Amino acid sequence: MSGIKKTFAPALPVSRDLRIGLFGFGVVGNGLYEVLQATPALQSVIKKICIKNPGKKRLISGEHFTTQASELLDDAEINVILELIDDADAAYEIVKAALQKGKSVVSANKKMIAKHFSELLELQQEFGAALLYEGACCASIPIIRNLEEYYDNDLLSAFRGIINGSTNYILTRIDKDNLSFKEALLEAQQLGFAESDPALDIEGHDAANKLSILLAHAFGTVVSPEELIYTGIAAIKESDANLARQRKVQIKLVGTAKRIGTDKLAAFVLPQFVSADDELSNVSNEFNGLVTESSFADKHFFKGKGAGAFPTAAAVLSDIAALRYNYKYEYKKIAQQANIIHSHDYYLRVFVSASGDTVLDKSNFEWIEEWHNDVNQSWTIAVISAKNLAATRWWKEDGISLILCEDPFIDNVQYKKISKLSLSLAGIE
Ligand code: HSE
Repeated sequence: MSGIKKTFAPALPVSRDLRIGLFGFGVVGNGLYEVLQATPALQSVIKKICIKNPGKKRLISGEHFTTQASELLDDAEINVILELIDDADAAYEIVKAALQKGKSVVSANKKMIAKHFSELLELQQEFGAALLYEGACCASIPIIRNLEEYYDNDLLSAFRGIINGSTNYILTRIDKDNLSFKEALLEAQQLGFAESDPALDIEGHDAANKLSILLAHAFGTVVSPEELIYTGIAAIKESDANLARQRKVQIKLVGTAKRIGTDKLAAFVLPQFVSADDELSNVSNEFNGLVTESSFADKHFFKGKGAGAFPTAAAVLSDIAALRYNYKYEYKKIAQQANIIHSHDYYLRVFVSASGDTVLDKSNFEWIEEWHNDVNQSWTIAVISAKNLAATRWWKEDGISLILCEDPFIDNVQYKKISKLSLSLAGIE
């Protein structure tokens, strides 16, 4: 038996020892420190931790800390930099300097990665060092490596998902436990789910940053977050939540990417009515969930904790483990499929409500399916062009909320058929 084992035993992959320089010792940094202590098999040592505020009381002794970035960046023994700080601009400087010195980098800073995506790609290519960031999207769900490796062909047609934990936590607590928006947000902050500036979560910036990163790995399409159509949950009114309850649907903040035809890509982050038969309806609290659609495989559903110290630290840990075997993202789809272009050439079925004196301008819609004037608000279910949403801000103004219907996409064939019909009914054609 042992002879057989010997003959067929695979050669062990060569692993390298990792000596880590850690930037940041906040929620995630702390979580990671604890997780690393609990996994000695990883053979990774944190040599030094760079922090901003040396006066803060911390659980480990002061000799581990420095306030000088150069102590980590110039230390030839340190071969991995973990960047876990809050400030996206400072994070970029650290990551850039580390890559230029040939050090591998792990980061969970979605804002920094989305903002500097192209530069970071060039730096990796020029200096040959790896930058891994599984923790930046959906925390504990291993989605980037799956998009990068498993769907390494052009069969992926769409994905959609809940990619911000705080907003999902807030919406769940409002819906299931009748908390006010303010109370639910406070809890999300206290539990360490929210960004230090929670506007990033509730206004949708965080989800847009994540979507932008996911698009590059899923479709090879590099789109900056500002080019995406997006909003958060801050504008959702109590009356919208009540209407959702009456209609037995939930409101979720959903990031969507969908190929249109062969060479175009629709991408946006918007609140959506989600019915009970939608996989995303079972994604509650700080959990994230993502459904991919691809030819032959059909649907896959990923679900996991999307915010919080340990779920994020778990993803960072997985990146550290991958670095031991010299794993790098190859960004294959960016090279192969540069022809999939982000486009606003599609239509969406939406619910829009306006409270008080705010008046909805009907000319913003392609056609209107329902129109209601209630005591304190008016609301409609209508079809709108993505071009309108991308080019205007009326739908982000005070008093107005826009929520996608359950099955929002109107394809061009359907659009032509119905718009022709509604024009002829109106006596225009
Ligand atoms: N604030 C983020 C969220 C943290 O709530 O999803 C994880 O990226």
